[in-house]
Amino acid sequence: MMIKQNKLTDVFTLANGVTIPCLGYGTWQTPDGETTKNCVKMAIEAGYRHIDTAFAYGNEVSVGEGIRAAGVKREDIFLTTKHWITERGYDKTVAAVEASLKNLGTDYLDLYLIHWPAVARRTPNWEEVNAETWRGFEKMYREGKIRAIGLSNFEPKHLDALWKTAEVKPMVNQLEFHPGYTQIDTIRYSQKLGMVAQAWSPLGCGAVLKDEMLNAMAAKYGKSVAQLCIRFALENKVLPLPKSTNAGRMAANAEVFDFEIADEDMKTLMEMPLLGFSGFIAEEAPADALAFGE
Ligand SMILES: NC(=O)c1ccc[n+]([C@@H]2O[C@H](COP(=O)([O-])OP(=O)(O)OC[C@H]3O[C@@H](n4cnc5c(N)ncnc54)[C@H](OP(=O)(O)O)[C@@H]3O)[C@@H](O)[C@H]2O)c1
Repeated sequence: MMIKQNKLTDVFTLANGVTIPCLGYGTWQTPDGETTKNCVKMAIEAGYRHIDTAFAYGNEVSVGEGIRAAGVKREDIFLTTKHWITERGYDKTVAAVEASLKNLGTDYLDLYLIHWPAVARRTPNWEEVNAETWRGFEKMYREGKIRAIGLSNFEPKHLDALWKTAEVKPMVNQLEFHPGYTQIDTIRYSQKLGMVAQAWSPLGCGAVLKDEMLNAMAAKYGKSVAQLCIRFALENKVLPLPKSTNAGRMAANAEVFDFEIADEDMKTLMEMPLLGFSGFIAEEAPADALAFGE
């Protein structure tokens, strides 16, 4: 299918008019320090202008250093970070934004996301907790410290609840999305509410790359499975955030604008049986979840 975007810096437009480069560079599990700094710098040198990090990844400081090392103007980079589950509630959220700004060495964020919703199983008053966190987001948005605000891992029931109190409607929902795990109903619901959907783990965290059927399909287009998966997201109007620590693979992951996936292959990709998923509800994670981010 044809898409509007023809290159790495073409954009999706958020509900408030802010534009966001159509392919982001992910940084989960990229070790803090020189590795993250160099990877972010290499990604920018490869043409990426959209960087995705999170407080919980523990690498915000090095992400900021990498951006500055690349020598590109701050306003030419779209920078996303995420609010962590330990910082829920209005006051803690306001402080969390300030902490991320300091870590990243910037005076504004382009996009700030609630990383995971509070959920009923663990937080009896989860609606109120999410609403209060969101109030903190709205304050920082209105003060101009964040250009756009959104969510991650919110299912329709979490969205419906937040919609009752949100004065500024969330502009993004970032969800795991790849062949074999698309969460397509949540993606479509988010889009219907006016949000841009983003794909985390668009390559299934590497897990989908060996699949035989995907390899055969990618070969037909003269593309890699990674490129097929990234294009699959774009053709679903979902903004992919692939991560690689390797300069060649970073560049290859951006070469997705010179082919189109045939309708029957889009259908096959969408209907693939469950290939596994790398995420989990954070509150069900092992106690050391913070050590590996999600
Ligand atoms: N909101 C959330 O809850 C959430 C959760 C998870 C992730 N995310 C975001 O989404 C981003 C992407 O997800 P992810 O990091 O889980 O995984 P991913 O992008 O799906 O896959 C990354 C893995 O694939 C490998 N890879 C990348 N390009 C490749 C290529 N062309 N050929 C072969 N292997 C390739 C990488 O290895 P190399 O590095 O060796 O290339 C790495 O092991 C994250 O970095 C993060 O920013 C958000």
